[in-house]
Amino acid sequence: MPVITIKPSGKTVEMPVGSTLAAAVIAAGEPMVLKCDGKGECDSCHIFVQEGRKSLSKIQRAENEQLDRIVGVGSKSRLACQATIGEENVVVELLGFSSGL
Ligand code: FES
Repeated sequence: MPVITIKPSGKTVEMPVGSTLAAAVIAAGEPMVLKCDGKGECDSCHIFVQEGRKSLSKIQRAENEQLDRIVGVGSKSRLACQATIGEENVVVELLGFSSGL
């Protein structure tokens, strides 16, 4: 199973393919608020994906439109509730610790 590393703590968790990044963050015991219950309608799960972006599910139109509304979005931005894990390991960075841009 792919390993998800959460920065800046460096905690890791193995997750089955198809799990969301939000589930991985929560499984690792890190804080993740899902204000819209993971429907892709808010910005509370906005994270930066530092490594493994290409193996994640592609950004769908609704996620893209939501990202467009969020301040501080960069090329590494994803909504953790919408991005599902592929075969490769992923490194994500929770916001509030670095610009990530
Ligand atoms: S929890 Fe609202 S967009 Fe992910």
